[in-house]
Amino acid sequence: MSTDGVDTSRRRFLTAATTVVGAVGAGAVAVPFIASMNPSARAQAAGAPVEADISKLEPGSMMTVEWRGKPVWIISRTEQNLKDLESLNAVLADPNSDLPQQPEYTRNVARSRDAHTEIAVLVGICTHLGCSPTFRPELAPADLGPEWKGGFFCPCHGSRFDLSGRVYKGMPAPSNLVIPKYQFLSESVIQIGEDGGVA
Ligand code: FES
Repeated sequence: MSTDGVDTSRRRFLTAATTVVGAVGAGAVAVPFIASMNPSARAQAAGAPVEADISKLEPGSMMTVEWRGKPVWIISRTEQNLKDLESLNAVLADPNSDLPQQPEYTRNVARSRDAHTEIAVLVGICTHLGCSPTFRPELAPADLGPEWKGGFFCPCHGSRFDLSGRVYKGMPAPSNLVIPKYQFLSESVIQIGEDGGVA
């Protein structure tokens, strides 16, 4: 599956609202919907890899694709975002990604693959009770405080994550956001759910 559904911060509230409605609707009709699919669509719903075209993804924005029935976010960080990640380590619960929430090749500050440091791929589900956090890329907004360097805010119980999906200390969420297996098929196409077995 390919998509260019680029999400900008201005559209984030609308996106969050439609995601909730969509998720409920999808759950309610999942069985008959899957039964009516052709074989390749059925395989995809069951967990086959999906592809995302990131050619229109601007630095500082994110897009969402669906994989195994879950939202997967692809975020393009700016140079400044990447520098800010380093400065946050002291206020994060698991800054080095010691818990097994990600493939080994993403255990770094940017939680990214080496050649594509600016790109983060995260399962967009809060590790507390499963809400979908909101993308908050802006610096120091009034409601999140002067230290906020951009990240994700979970509206259900207030968990905060940085732009690598690392959770802040003292939050209800116990761990960083999950990173799925993924690989770059080209400079602009990411395959989610498959990494060619590369460690
Ligand atoms: S579900 Fe996100 S903080 Fe509770």
